[in-house]
Amino acid sequence: MNLEVRIERSSTPKPRPAESDLGFGRNFTDHMLLLDYAEGRGWHDARIVPYGPLALDPAAAVLHYGQAMFEGAKAIRGDDGVVRLFRLERHCARLASGAPRLCMPAPEPAVLRDAITELVRVEESWVPRARNTALYIRPTLVATEAFLGVRPATQYLLYVILSPVGSYYGGDTLKPVRIWVETEQTRAAHGGLGSVKAGANYAASLQAAVRAKAAGFDQVLWLDGAQHETLEEVGTMNLFVVLGDELVTPVLGDTVLAGVTRDSIITLARARGLTVTERPVSLAEIGDAQRSGLLKEVFGSGTAAVVSPVSELVTRDRRMVVGDGVGPVAQSFYDELTGIQRGTRPDVHGWLTAI
Ligand code: COI
Repeated sequence: MNLEVRIERSSTPKPRPAESDLGFGRNFTDHMLLLDYAEGRGWHDARIVPYGPLALDPAAAVLHYGQAMFEGAKAIRGDDGVVRLFRLERHCARLASGAPRLCMPAPEPAVLRDAITELVRVEESWVPRARNTALYIRPTLVATEAFLGVRPATQYLLYVILSPVGSYYGGDTLKPVRIWVETEQTRAAHGGLGSVKAGANYAASLQAAVRAKAAGFDQVLWLDGAQHETLEEVGTMNLFVVLGDELVTPVLGDTVLAGVTRDSIITLARARGLTVTERPVSLAEIGDAQRSGLLKEVFGSGTAAVVSPVSELVTRDRRMVVGDGVGPVAQSFYDELTGIQRGTRPDVHGWLTAI
């Protein structure tokens, strides 16, 4: 598949937001990338056009039956001023491998990577410079066919928007989060959509997150849907636990997203000679480890926040304090990953591509 990307430049560039006040996902750049798909024709009409509202038929399948998924990647400006994409092809590959679960087509990863790289080149001046900032890349795939019968649509739109972002939770330093252990609601069940970056997974997570916030927590810890006993994800992130000298993360399956940051941390940890184990971790094991002092750290990992340390896990009948703030392991992975992204540490794994 070879797609030529047509470029139509905006004649009304937007004012740039202050880098000190970017927040997450509030500002969008001047252009977006669109690709259309039609059954029998495949992907076509790749174009970079001025950012603006989409025209969707009110009967578009995505608005009724939720055929929608997305990705989240980053372009980072190094301390040397060069803009680099972090593992973009892996994000494009994850979109392509997840789309069939929703009966959706996706462009070949290398084709999508090249088109997104073109968009980031057009918007190069939007990539912020300050520490802890990046240009967040949001590819989104939706069913556009106007048809109310329940079956996979025959027409799709893949669009990519860009957002200059600061740190996900605000502030310049890592901020430990308080976590409610959710034992009523479920993010994902076996055989469901949990390992796919489907919009529906995030919709399913909202009510528990809202309730947790109202009770003074930052996010929830998601457990397995059957027994509510095995740890799966934390908020919108993958989960890591430091037990003694061992770094443990829930094993991937059809209820856990194969995070790119998760994979990067596992790779960096093994390169340091740490023991990393991907296995089921139960709440009972965490409880015992906390009592015995073996539980040193808990942290989440994701593209948006990179690393997010957990200071407390609270269940209906127990409050487990974890460490004393930002743990050294979480901090070291944050520093190493962001250092690689900003070009101040060597990119030995070949994760960066200058645009
Ligand atoms: C990430 O951690 O990158 C996420 O998936 C969060 C995003 C949905 C804002």
